[in-house]
Amino acid sequence: METVVSGIRSTGNLHLGNYYGALKNFIKMQESNRCLFFIADLHSLTTHPTAENLHGNVQQVLAEYLASGLDPEKATIFVQSDIPEVSEMYVLLNMLAYIGELERTASFKEKVRKHPHNVNAGLLTYPVLMAVDILIHKATKVPVGKDQEQHLEMTRVYARRFNNMYNTPFFPEPDAYNFGSELIKIPGLDGSGKMGKSEGNGLYLMDDEATIRKKVKKAVTDTGEKSDEMSEPVKNLFAILNVVSTPEVVNHYKEAYAAGAIRYGDMKNQLADDICKVTLPIRERILDITKDGQYLYKVRKIGAEKARESAAKNLVEMKKIMGFKLL
Ligand code: TRP
Repeated sequence: METVVSGIRSTGNLHLGNYYGALKNFIKMQESNRCLFFIADLHSLTTHPTAENLHGNVQQVLAEYLASGLDPEKATIFVQSDIPEVSEMYVLLNMLAYIGELERTASFKEKVRKHPHNVNAGLLTYPVLMAVDILIHKATKVPVGKDQEQHLEMTRVYARRFNNMYNTPFFPEPDAYNFGSELIKIPGLDGSGKMGKSEGNGLYLMDDEATIRKKVKKAVTDTGEKSDEMSEPVKNLFAILNVVSTPEVVNHYKEAYAAGAIRYGDMKNQLADDICKVTLPIRERILDITKDGQYLYKVRKIGAEKARESAAKNLVEMKKIMGFKLL
């Protein structure tokens, strides 16, 4: 059995791309693995959220993930800052991380470029904290997107370095969880690349019906004239249709397109209908869960207890290996 760990950025508001790209896979994984999913609120401090936002975002993300199908009975779902062992191991692991390699991290260089006035030390050591999230549970698999691959590679470097330094097989080197052909990328509706928060082209699980219809209506298309190569924006519409609609519906519009008789207005109405079928029930559940503070508290508490048990055990062993004499 694999131990799977994944951190979720605590900036709130899942979009359809997160749902199909990551979450649906998490939901599948939790059936047959030891899964630990957590909200990375310590990491989010690198960008200085306000005190109100920090906690509000945690509640929102937690509610959205639960509403989408992460199951606290099957997976350990917790909040990073509820596990003080993480911060302690972070101090220890920092001693094994070299400034040179941290400064060369792509994500760090990008942050420096984008936010030259907020280059804090936490940003530099972001990969160390992420490695701790993973190693503290001796995870063997980490589901990560392309942008996190380098961080995972650094995690392996730290695991190896520790093991070599102390001559022990203590930390397993975690691999990326490979979704293989199941990896679904949801494009944006603006004719460009993928759906993303920073791209401002997201269809959110929290969007109400009117908002979804409005966004889909505004989606970029083309003139509908027959051409050999389907235009990028229309390919994108089909990509989303493929995911949310039935094969019959997809075929109907593909044939219409091939015949040069497609009516994008109709296709968009259908697309909006089918997106709503997926997201509106989730939206209802998010609203219900958000109202139920006691339930959220319970989930968080049970998750923290389970995660702390595993974290504390591994931290103690790590400290012993390093030569600390524990009281
Ligand atoms: N850095 C990840 C992201 O931005 C979030 C994260 C934090 C994470 N700790 C992790 C992901 C541990 C996987 C494992 O998406």
